[in-house]
Amino acid sequence: MDFKLSGEDLLQVKCNLLVLGRFEGEVIKGPVKRVDEALGGALSRISQEEKFNGEIGKGVMINTLGKIRAERVLLIGLGKKQKFSSDVLRKAGIFTAKRAKPFSESIAFGFAVDGKKENASALIEGIMLGGYEFNKYKTNDKKWEGIKNVKFVSSGIRERNFKEDLEYASIISEATNFARDLINEPPVVLTPTKLSETAKEIALKEKLECKIFGKEEMEKKGMGGLLAVSRGSDEPPKFIHLTYKPKGSIKKAVAVVGKGITFDSGGLCIKPRDSMRTMKGDMAGAACVLGVMKVISRLKPPIKVHGLISATENMPGARAYKPDDIIRALNGKTIEVIDTDAEGRIVLSDALSYAMELKVDEIVDLATLTGACVVALGDYTAGVMGNNERLINRIIKAAKLAGEKVWQLPMDDELRKEIESDVADVKNVGSRFGGAITAAMFLEKFVGDTPWAHLDIAGPAFIEKGGEWYPKGATGFGVRTIIRYLLS
Ligand code: BES
Ligand code: MN
Ligand code: ZN
Repeated sequence: MDFKLSGEDLLQVKCNLLVLGRFEGEVIKGPVKRVDEALGGALSRISQEEKFNGEIGKGVMINTLGKIRAERVLLIGLGKKQKFSSDVLRKAGIFTAKRAKPFSESIAFGFAVDGKKENASALIEGIMLGGYEFNKYKTNDKKWEGIKNVKFVSSGIRERNFKEDLEYASIISEATNFARDLINEPPVVLTPTKLSETAKEIALKEKLECKIFGKEEMEKKGMGGLLAVSRGSDEPPKFIHLTYKPKGSIKKAVAVVGKGITFDSGGLCIKPRDSMRTMKGDMAGAACVLGVMKVISRLKPPIKVHGLISATENMPGARAYKPDDIIRALNGKTIEVIDTDAEGRIVLSDALSYAMELKVDEIVDLATLTGACVVALGDYTAGVMGNNERLINRIIKAAKLAGEKVWQLPMDDELRKEIESDVADVKNVGSRFGGAITAAMFLEKFVGDTPWAHLDIAGPAFIEKGGEWYPKGATGFGVRTIIRYLLS
């Protein structure tokens, strides 16, 4: 995609799609009015007919029939003027990219974007993310090649900032769409081995350190959790460790940990068929880690970043781990298995213990961990929990800036007894109630005193039906929040 600033006259801009904006409830005026007049009042007429008043998520599109040089005009809603923000612009970008399908290759934006610093990059990010489609396995459909050129006309964006804004938006969009692609791949393709090969490729290209542990190394190290979960599968498990080291002085070290279950059948506590669908997305946390590590050396934060992934399938094979098993995690703690479908926390126990061994200053994990979190917060919001309010607040702030929704759930001490075991240090499930919280409390046992935050992304990571601001399937949720956090 090519992005340019332009000072052309709106009526003279040659493009497939001219995008104009309108605040909610405001009369058509300014540049919109000029275009409307050139089109003989068609824009205001169709707005009236379709009862379009400038609401966010709505818009009208018309063909200009050659009356101006743009082939079509899309008038989009920018919502209430007082609420205008970078988030609105991100949505405007997504809305435009979706509506641009399947005709428009060249687009011109004809409204003011100026104001806050992050505005331009939010709009560009929206355009880059909104056009995403996972269509590589469609053999017949004519594929939409996407938007090629974008111009910002009289946008108020300053030339000097523009390069930087464009660069940032491109980086985070590339990382997000990369994660989406990994998650959307079918589980027969995206195995733990494939995940580890992808990590190796990233490391080679981006000059990161890369360690991959196979079964033997895991046994030597004592990663009993990951090994136990992997036993029911024919696919070999992998533990992935990528490291980014900044060139200059190192301010601190953080670990970003991802759950990498490339398919979650539930294991012996097998899922019903309807719940099993979309479980290729159970490695979304891992994909997020890889997305972040793929671009981190271009963002150059002055911190050391470890990307850690526990990757395996959760299958009910003949050697599968069982309810009643007791397993020993890397940090020596023992886990009583109640339910083999609560496998995410078990594989993460080793990854978090490993992060502890690295003596990092902060740990953040991302995991499609519990259905309970989806029940609590719905499809579009991730739960955030942890042992350190300051770190949690930084994550919440980063998510806000990134335009991703997260909500803190309470680590209610009264729930802690739910995961006490009679025969081991901890058991892997509590009761049905507060399931997202007790899952986090399980993880907490493996981070010691290290400041740690946990994002339960079970809802927003994979949205089968899509959403206004999301593609169908994988969303890449978390990538942008983590990048913001690493830069904070
Ligand atoms: N991967 C699932 C959680 C999940 C559910 C992710 C829905 C995305 C959408 C996880 O491994 C799981 O199966 N959790 C169980 C835990 C239960 C057995 C305590 C669940 O949520 O039902
Ligand atoms: Mn499960
Ligand atoms: Zn799972």
